[in-house]
Amino acid sequence: MVTTTEFKNPLEEAIKDNKIADPCILVIFGATGDLTARKLVPALYNLAIEGQLPSHFACVGFARRDKTHQDFRAEMLDAIGKYSRTKPVDEEIWKNFSEQIFYHKSEFGDDEGYEDLDKYLKELDGQFGTKGNRVFYLSTQPSFFPGIIQKLHQHKLIYDINQEEEKWSRVIIEKPFGHDLASAKSLQQEITQYLDESQIYRIDHYLGKETVQNLLVFRFSNPIFEAIWNNRHIDHVQITVAEDIGIGTRGKFWEEAGMLRDIVQNHMMQLLSLVGMEPPTSFKASAIHNEKVKVMESLRPFPKETMDRYIVRGQYGTGYINGQEVISYREENNVSPTSNVETFIAMELFIDNWRWAGVPFYLRAGKRMPKKATEIAITFRDAPGFLFDKSGKKPDPNILVIRIQPDEGISLKMNCKVPGLGSPIQPVKMDFRYGSYFGAQPPEAYERLICDCMSGDSTLFARVDEVLASWRLLSPVLEAWAENPPPKFPNYQSGTWGPAVAEEMIGREGRHWRMI
Ligand code: BG6
Repeated sequence: MVTTTEFKNPLEEAIKDNKIADPCILVIFGATGDLTARKLVPALYNLAIEGQLPSHFACVGFARRDKTHQDFRAEMLDAIGKYSRTKPVDEEIWKNFSEQIFYHKSEFGDDEGYEDLDKYLKELDGQFGTKGNRVFYLSTQPSFFPGIIQKLHQHKLIYDINQEEEKWSRVIIEKPFGHDLASAKSLQQEITQYLDESQIYRIDHYLGKETVQNLLVFRFSNPIFEAIWNNRHIDHVQITVAEDIGIGTRGKFWEEAGMLRDIVQNHMMQLLSLVGMEPPTSFKASAIHNEKVKVMESLRPFPKETMDRYIVRGQYGTGYINGQEVISYREENNVSPTSNVETFIAMELFIDNWRWAGVPFYLRAGKRMPKKATEIAITFRDAPGFLFDKSGKKPDPNILVIRIQPDEGISLKMNCKVPGLGSPIQPVKMDFRYGSYFGAQPPEAYERLICDCMSGDSTLFARVDEVLASWRLLSPVLEAWAENPPPKFPNYQSGTWGPAVAEEMIGREGRHWRMI
């Protein structure tokens, strides 16, 4: 007798959509900043369009500048017009949505400001039915994070999870979480005096990108790939985060951050851990975080004496982007003319575990590259050469490319015989494109992440041990770089793929960076 067992789809959690966010008020600290206008409010507006905002919702901008609710709304309308992924602004939706937006002026350290905020939020609870639930979004300079959290606690805006069952409060913290291992640890220590880990949402917007989420689905719902996802079949992995833009108006920030803190420590390490992780036991947040942490903890530390062999840095000089002449990093506003801050990094990493032993992971991130492109390329091992030696040309390796952005999709390069009487081999590509296949425009990362936080789902946020593991690898690099300034900056021309040292690094083993 044949018996059948019904299995639950293990990806249900990961692919379920239409989460129901709880009623709540979102308070944005640093509401007059760039992020609020470019990303946060346009994301809320698009959630309103998609019908994904909670039915009982309000948003309060908290900042130091003097402004009325009307002024703030007018600025946000302007921002939505410029930065929303859906255009033009839908007047009906905007009208309703704008009536849920408010402004609260206060210094970040002013007790009276927090007392007034508490009263005001309670008033809004009455008006909007938001039930006392709060999301506090910290989009200020990182140095304000501990102070704001302390004040929120002092004025009982953060609830004790052991005492409150009815209402909840959560805090979203923008990256960077610390500027090295020691500061990340001390930030964690400071904020956990007042917050439980379950109330902390460390945002890394890469995790909210549709294509990044798809990495989990792609890897664990396609057993044909999972079977060859290891050192027996994979020669090496390349992860590229390239941007054609320069530093623009962010000189002051960049001089303190640099590429390692801005992109590598967070976005790239997240991509690396999703590619390298073992299948989780479930799609619960904790199961996924556990596997990601194991990858980060298996990363081989850079050897102190020969660090330059494994990680190299660069800074852009003048050059051309899209035919336009551009200035060098050192000429940007608020940048020192002798700055040694890096705008490019390339590195070779090894994950010292059974699956990945011996497989190099090459990572590169740069500003002022020829184009914007984020991708993960998995190069498989060569076919045994003896069959093809006579023809003089070895077939190209198979390469699986996951394009994170733009032109989101997945392609597989393989070899084919060119039609005809001879037998020349030519590489061809099987290409899947999100845009043409699904037609629909994916939501912006911030839409997904804000919605997840309002629903209490922390899967796509970074857990503290991930952040610390990443700093553990990279903090020694910062220390070594501080002691040894780069020999020659700028060392690459704007509009090129980075300095020669990056090519030399990957070329040592006969490999080369992909042409994108
Ligand atoms: C941010 C960095 O986190 O990500 C920026 O601070 C960078 O420097 C940006 O430009 C890139 O994001 P995206 O989504 O455009 O790849």
